[in-house]
Amino acid sequence: MPYTNPASYDEFMGRWSRRLAPRFAAFAGVRDAERVLDVGCGTGVLSRILLDLEADIEVIGVDPAASYVEYARRVVPSPRARFEIGAADALPFAGKAFDASLSLLVLQEFADAPKAVREMARVTRQGGTVATCKWDFRDGMPMLSLFEQAAEAVAPEALARHRAERVVRPTYDRLEDIAALWEGCGLTELRTAVLELSLEFPSVEDLWLPFLGGSTGFSAFARDLNRETGGAVAKRLREMIEAEYGTSEFMLTARAWAVAGIAAT
Ligand SMILES: C[S@@+](CC[C@H](N)C(=O)[O-])C[C@H]1O[C@@H](n2cnc3c(N)ncnc32)[C@H](O)[C@@H]1O
Repeated sequence: MPYTNPASYDEFMGRWSRRLAPRFAAFAGVRDAERVLDVGCGTGVLSRILLDLEADIEVIGVDPAASYVEYARRVVPSPRARFEIGAADALPFAGKAFDASLSLLVLQEFADAPKAVREMARVTRQGGTVATCKWDFRDGMPMLSLFEQAAEAVAPEALARHRAERVVRPTYDRLEDIAALWEGCGLTELRTAVLELSLEFPSVEDLWLPFLGGSTGFSAFARDLNRETGGAVAKRLREMIEAEYGTSEFMLTARAWAVAGIAAT
């Protein structure tokens, strides 16, 4: 399902990306005056962080979702940034065009991950960094797993149907699987990190309302299921959160895997 409604994405997952991007950028070790590719740039969260990090860095963001690319152009209007439509498995750039290629929260999207990673390596100069960072979807993204638990309690058959309809791909939900992918694509001097971060939610509404924008496949499913169940899933979500954290603000902690390697050729 294509990504839609970029403004809603920014509220839904972008709030996590904004927290994660500086940690990932520091891990990747991007340096000033470098030309960096942001693969699956979405609304431009990582690109903006990279631009703020160093005075002379240049960023090119690429993403297949045209509405996200347009949005990124609008919200990241730097002369040092450019955003283009394109997908990772056929990057529209010459070989060795970048000093580094990064991708944040995108690996799960690739229909052919080895092909995409080889493309990232191809467009990176010899000695440059190719890095990725993705959620541990097994139990490291509580905003989504809390919803799944609520859906399981209220509409288990619908949840099972949704899971069965999902495109089955290698999920790279373990750090060593991502590292093996990097190694298999010829990247060397591998480095890995576990990035944990917390986000405060002033209320359950603050967590739930951005689901209703349906910007991602997951949030669109959540919105539709809640509608079909007459609001029962959101009600259950609220009960679960209040039972766990009380009725005031609460904090969720997420975990992401990060892997970086060096383009050897
Ligand atoms: C979860 S979002 C992450 C966006 C952004 N990097 C961030 O951290 O906020 C996933 C992004 O991957 C993009 N995407 C999907 N398939 C892709 C592909 N084959 N190549 C590159 N990007 C892709 C989507 O359009 C979407 O913008």
